[in-house]
Amino acid sequence: MASAALLVLLALATMQPQTTSSQKETHLKVYWHDVGSGPDPTSVPVARAATTNTSKAAFGLVIVIDDPLTDGPGLNSSRLMGRAQGTYIAAGKDQLALLMLMNFVFTAGKYNGSSVAIMGRNAVFTEVREMAVVGGTGVFRWARGYAQARTHTLDLKTGDATVEYNVFVMHLSRP
Ligand SMILES: *[C@@H]1O[C@H](CO)[C@@H](O)[C@H](O)[C@H]1NC(C)=O
Ligand SMILES: *[C@@H]1O[C@H](CO)[C@@H](O)[C@H](O)[C@H]1NC(C)=O
Ligand SMILES: *[C@@H]1O[C@H](CO)[C@@H](O)[C@H](O)[C@H]1NC(C)=O
Repeated sequence: MASAALLVLLALATMQPQTTSSQKETHLKVYWHDVGSGPDPTSVPVARAATTNTSKAAFGLVIVIDDPLTDGPGLNSSRLMGRAQGTYIAAGKDQLALLMLMNFVFTAGKYNGSSVAIMGRNAVFTEVREMAVVGGTGVFRWARGYAQARTHTLDLKTGDATVEYNVFVMHLSRP
C-alpha cells in the first residue's frame, strides 16, 4: 500500500509543469526622434479629415513613423538603438492628444532583434505621458508594462521633436 501511494505521489510530481522561466523587470531608456521636416523625414502624414486643418487639435490627422531611437538626446551624436515604427493619430477633438501605436524595434545592444509594442494616449503638452506596453517579441515575449514620455526638445515651427521614453517592461527571463 505504502509503495503504491509513493508511486502515485511520484507520478503527480513528474506531471508538474516545468518551471523554465521567471519574471523579470527591465527598464529601457531611449530618445525618440520625430523628424517631419527636411528631405528625409521619418514621420509622414498619410491622411487627414476635411476638418483637420481648421481643428485646433489637428483632429483626424494620421501620421506614419519610422523614427530613430538613440541612447542619448542628440540624434547624430548618440548611438542608434533601434526604430519606433508605427502610427499616431490626432484623436482629441478639443485638446491635442495623440493615440500612439508603435513597435520599438531594437537593432543594437543586448535587445537587438527584440521589440516592445506600445499603445496609449499622448497629450503632447503634458509633462509626463504614460502609455501601455501591450506586448513584445524576442527577449520581451509576454511583455506588459508602461512607458513614460517626456519632451526633450520640440521645434514649434517644424513640429520636429525629441522625446525621452522610459519603458518599464515585465517579461519572461529564460535561463
Ligand atoms: C490641409 O493642409 C495640408 C498641409 O498644409 C495641405 O496639404 C492640404 O491640402 C490641406 N487640406 C485641406 C482640406 O485644406
Ligand atoms: C543630423 O544629420 C543629418 C544628416 O547628416 C542632418 O540633415 C541633420 O540636420 C542633423 N541633425 C542635427 C540635429 O544635427
Ligand atoms: C543585430 O542583429 C543582427 C541579426 O542577428 C546582426 O546582423 C547585426 O549585426 C546586429 N547589430 C548590432 C549592432 O549588433
